[in-house]
Amino acid sequence: MSRILTGIQSTGKPHLGNILGAILPAIELSHRDENDAIYFIADLHSLTTVRDPKVLKENTLAVAAAWLAFGLDTNDSILFRQSDVTEVCELTWYLNCFTPYPMLANAHSFKDKSSRLNEVNVGLFDYPVLMAADILLYDSEFVPVGKDQKQHLEITRDIAGSFNHAYGETLVLPEALINEKVMVVPGTDGQKMSKSYNNYIDIFQNDKALRKQVMTIVTDAKSLEEPKDPDTCNVFRLYELLAMEAEIEDLRAKYLAGNFGYGHAKDALFQVICKRFEKERNAYEELMATPALIENELSKGALRAKLIAGKVIKRVREKVGY
Ligand code: ADP
Ligand code: TRP
Repeated sequence: MSRILTGIQSTGKPHLGNILGAILPAIELSHRDENDAIYFIADLHSLTTVRDPKVLKENTLAVAAAWLAFGLDTNDSILFRQSDVTEVCELTWYLNCFTPYPMLANAHSFKDKSSRLNEVNVGLFDYPVLMAADILLYDSEFVPVGKDQKQHLEITRDIAGSFNHAYGETLVLPEALINEKVMVVPGTDGQKMSKSYNNYIDIFQNDKALRKQVMTIVTDAKSLEEPKDPDTCNVFRLYELLAMEAEIEDLRAKYLAGNFGYGHAKDALFQVICKRFEKERNAYEELMATPALIENELSKGALRAKLIAGKVIKRVREKVGY
């Protein structure tokens, strides 16, 4: 068995890009027999920017509800909330004492903001060390992450290496699992779908609002009668990611034949989103209407995570001399 672990940012309700690019691949990994998967919602990391307790809490619930709705099996894998396992803060301190200042000063996550130093809190500066603690606290072997997190994994390995050098083999050196083939889901304006570009599709809203959002997808100005090019159309690009082979070919033919407007294409996309995610949208709604169900799952995950974390932190304390 390989222990895989990843942290999920709790920046709110996941959009279609997060679902296709992150949630579904991670759930697929967790279903493989050879993997022992631990996924957590990184709400301690969120405190570097989120200052509203209500938002912090709701974001966590929305993210957890999405993962549960998409079928993460919490009897097999562990899903927990980072702040429920406070041992991670203790380990962060130990690791801080093995982290050279210049290593953090050179981290992209900090450098990107170093022109506005008065806006940078120490939590943000120390973010990579908290992330290292997240990983090392569970003896993680593989960490599925996006390319942008590669440097954080290198930092984690460096810190673990320094600790092991001082005390002998204690911490497991993790490897990044970077999926180079991961798809980039386009947003309503054709750029990468992202919360920060406000071009996302939220499949978890009601039909009316979802339909309205699909209707905002940017297209060219061809008239209803004109034949259209499916391969340069934002609506078609999304449709291709969600529909069945035969449906895609059917829509392609309609584009090429003409007398088929973008309104029709958007309607077809809306229908395919509803059909493909019917079960998940219902499950999400039910969970969000009963937060106790989500809390229950997260508490169960925290108990199991604490068992693993407790053993590792004991090992570390003994080595350090506490
Ligand atoms: P956002 O850009 O909306 O802030 P995040 O950066 O929080 O999204 O991404 C969370 C996860 O979702 C990451 O694993 C990221 O790779 C994935 N993801 C985000 N947007 C997309 C997209 N448009 N296509 C594919 N994957 C995406
Ligand atoms: N920094 C990661 C991101 O921005 C989230 C994260 C926090 C994480 N702790 C982690 C990822 C530990 C993997 C392992 O996406």
